[in-house]
Amino acid sequence: MILNKIEKMLMNNNIRAFIQRHFEAKLLFNMGGSASNATVLEIGCGRGVGVEIIYDIFGAKNIHAFDLDSDMVNIARKRLYKYGDKLNLWVGDVTNIQSNDNFYDAVFDFGIIHHVPNWIDALKEIYRVLKPGGRFYCEEIFEAFINFPIWRMLLDHPLENRFDYLKFINGLKETGFVIMSSKNFYQQFGIFIADK
Ligand SMILES: C[S@@+](CC[C@H](N)C(=O)[O-])C[C@H]1O[C@@H](n2cnc3c(N)ncnc32)[C@H](O)[C@@H]1O
Repeated sequence: MILNKIEKMLMNNNIRAFIQRHFEAKLLFNMGGSASNATVLEIGCGRGVGVEIIYDIFGAKNIHAFDLDSDMVNIARKRLYKYGDKLNLWVGDVTNIQSNDNFYDAVFDFGIIHHVPNWIDALKEIYRVLKPGGRFYCEEIFEAFINFPIWRMLLDHPLENRFDYLKFINGLKETGFVIMSSKNFYQQFGIFIADK
């Protein structure tokens, strides 16, 4: 689901970039380690800050990234031109990833799967495109956060069939992932490191 105007404002600013780099990425790195020399996919890359973080902090060799929203991909393309042919960027849907099976060493998710109505299909696609032994670095938002009255009023999220920490862990396991590490932050959001 494409973000509404308010959520785009909340995502496309330097405070969000600071939180993503200095809090979320740090947690993912501490729990999942580096992705040095890896071929990486970022799902729902938004304006492209995650790609910079995956190069700078995780040490990726090549990154592929996509987002459902062509406006976001256009912003990301301008921001990320410096990476030249080390980056492949496109408009796409996480429930139908335009990549071969068993292709990536790692997949990164900075909070997009809670925007996907059929989120189990997203997990199945991520599993499909990861190499055996590949790693899923995931930060996700839970239903308690989505249902908080102010966010329900201001933001657009799918509301049916949502997940909390345990449902998400079960979804990962049912898809075939092995959970290497996970943390639940006050039932609001969580960090998951899961291997294929
Ligand atoms: C909350 S924003 C996060 C953006 C970015 N990852 C960040 O952390 O700043 C969610 C992003 O997921 C994208 N998105 C939503 N549904 C998607 C789907 N089915 N496939 C790919 N991207 C999707 C939205 O367009 C949006 O850019």
